[in-house]
Amino acid sequence: MKQDIDWSKLGFKYHTTDIRYISNYKNGSWDEGQLSTNSNVTINESAGVLQYAQTCFEGLKAYTTKDNKIVCFRPDLNAARMEESCKRLEMPVFNKERFVNAVKEVVKANASWVPPYGYGASLYIRPYMFASGAVIGVKPADEYQFRIFTTPVGPYFQGGAKPIVIRISDFDRAAPNGTGHIKAGLNYAMSLHAIVDAHNQGFAENMYLDSKTRTKVEETGGANFIFVTQDNKVITPKSSSILPSITRRSLLYVAEHYLNLKVEEREIYKEELKDFKECALCGTAAVLSPVGKINDHGKEISFPSGMENMGEITKKLYDTLVGIQLGEIEAPKGWIEVIL
Ligand code: PLP
Ligand code: COI
Repeated sequence: MKQDIDWSKLGFKYHTTDIRYISNYKNGSWDEGQLSTNSNVTINESAGVLQYAQTCFEGLKAYTTKDNKIVCFRPDLNAARMEESCKRLEMPVFNKERFVNAVKEVVKANASWVPPYGYGASLYIRPYMFASGAVIGVKPADEYQFRIFTTPVGPYFQGGAKPIVIRISDFDRAAPNGTGHIKAGLNYAMSLHAIVDAHNQGFAENMYLDSKTRTKVEETGGANFIFVTQDNKVITPKSSSILPSITRRSLLYVAEHYLNLKVEEREIYKEELKDFKECALCGTAAVLSPVGKINDHGKEISFPSGMENMGEITKKLYDTLVGIQLGEIEAPKGWIEVIL
């Protein structure tokens, strides 16, 4: 039996579901882990996460496919990226196979919360790890907790597939040799002021530039960029300070192997933006959200795809990726993990 929810009206909001996964790290190893009905966390007042933000997270989704299976998309890549985040933050790695199994276990336990096929909704899965042990000197903690909760979600941006307007931010997201390439909570804490300021000024998101030269496009607070050139090439910024988006990597594969388009990952200069045909944000939460305009300090860059619909190539990419996730189009080997 599914939950009694209007699946078509879900936004991107937290909703407490029944079951979460918890494993604790103590005396140098992870315990066997368990499912729990308790949605609250109790930790020491001086826990490393509270004092020095020693925490990282992941995000992926479970879908109901056309033939009524519950699946998730490339969870092995989230496990691998979390390993990178943990290493950079001096946190203990949670075994990748155990990560994938725990994701499957939690989704299975919350099957009634997985939106049915056909509503454009999914079950967002949030794995995360934090330092639960007390510290006071600046050093890594001795104890950690790894948890996974789930929450049913709809579109990240209001209006779903309608093009959004973003601005070029004067705030920086990541330092050249910092933590931009990992999914550390601290990257998001420092983006909160920039996003509130952007929203107050009527923009849906910030486009961050590289903080060293402020000439190259990086990403937004929660998604990577793809652009389409006049000759229909799909391009995406290459930078060591952006998060390696699993959606972006998948879209480039789809562009090349399903749509026969040329793709390129390269440095992209702010000055080139005016020459592109289409622009979109990609990520688990954002899926593929079209950008209609970019505001550069009052000067508007308007993409020819306009403010009503997705651009032609963006739409093809979107339909193919979502079709793969929903079991309507055959997936490349290993992309779809069947849960139930
Ligand atoms: N960039 C940032 C900063 C993000 O937070 C996310 C979300 O996870 C992404 C990009 C997109 O990554 P993915 O496609 O793996 O969800
Ligand atoms: C995701 O897309 O999963 C993210 O983590 C983005 C987040 C900032 C909502």
